Amino acid sequence: MPRTEFISTGFYVPERVVKNDEFTQWMDTSDEWIKTRTGIAERHWVADHQATSDLAVEATKLALDRAGMQASDLDCIVFATLAGDYMMPGAGVFLQRKLGITNIPCLDVRNQCSGFLYGLSVADAWIRTGQYQRVLLVGAEIQSIGLDLTTRGRDMAVLFGDGAGVAILGPTSDEGRGVLSTHIFADGRYAELLWANLGGSANRPRLSAQQLEQGMHFPQMQGREVFKHASTRMPASVMESLTVNGLTTNDIKVLIPHQANMRISEMVQKQLGLRDDQVYNNIDRYGNTTAASIPIALDECVQSGKLKRGDLLVLTAFGSGFTWGSAAIRW
Ligand code: UT7
Repeated sequence: MPRTEFISTGFYVPERVVKNDEFTQWMDTSDEWIKTRTGIAERHWVADHQATSDLAVEATKLALDRAGMQASDLDCIVFATLAGDYMMPGAGVFLQRKLGITNIPCLDVRNQCSGFLYGLSVADAWIRTGQYQRVLLVGAEIQSIGLDLTTRGRDMAVLFGDGAGVAILGPTSDEGRGVLSTHIFADGRYAELLWANLGGSANRPRLSAQQLEQGMHFPQMQGREVFKHASTRMPASVMESLTVNGLTTNDIKVLIPHQANMRISEMVQKQLGLRDDQVYNNIDRYGNTTAASIPIALDECVQSGKLKRGDLLVLTAFGSGFTWGSAAIRW
């Protein structure tokens, strides 16, 4: 079976940059609190005319261009987001339409911050079995329009940013390279520790003015619990991806942890005993972009030359569900 290689990558973030100080006009917070507790200095927020698939289109155009491909060369779209353009259908078909193609399948993945890894796992299996040859894997999010920008929501509001990152995946005949393995996990016992409890089929009524007044449509999180799980599950899944491939932490050229909190990344690094140069973080500039955080960071590593052919890349993520995972890739 062929392995899956990353043919090209691309990312897009909207123009508007929101610095920490801006939040002080809406809520009781400070640049100092946000920087010390999260490592975030700024994030990008969308303009009113932009939906999630619009961000994905921009990132996709870049990746297609770099691969020397047309949209018509793609034979499948896997779109990871928790922020679809509409309640239904998922964002994949809107991206497909905007790319001007009609005859390929679109899979929508909703595994939040782990979405890109879950999507990679599926795309990798499809490519290895020969079902698809050119898969567009997308992680894209718009968080900014769904945040509680009052002191009540300050623990969540300051964390998130908007953006999109994509990868075009295909089979490689080079036996030494490609996705070595993916490892995805979930534990639904913790679903309510990071969730948005509105608009789904469990609610009666599905949506009411009273629920909106209570702010039930905003995502809610028990931050400390999520922090604890994130900082232990990610290193454990990284170790699994290394062990099954007969590798050690010394072999890692670049580890990209999901960008949820700089302190979480530092704990992951410490537990794995990695040097600073082995771990890539950009949360200071983008905040937490959920499913987009890994592909945005990945594209930065590729474009800056930090990641070179033959290097061992490890990805790891953790998010709502709880869901988490890792992937080992020989670049
Ligand atoms: O992406 C998916 C997964 N998400 C994550 O992994 C996020 C995990 N959790 C976290 O990153 C952190 O828990 C947070 C950044 C959300 C919070 O940091 P923390 O150090 O755990 O703070 P805390 O929740 O324990 O709150 C400490 C204090 C509280 O005040 P009191 O009760 O001590 O008076 C909060 O009300 O900080 C307060 N606080 C804030 N103060 C200023 C919470 N948010 C803010 C804020 N500005 N934005």
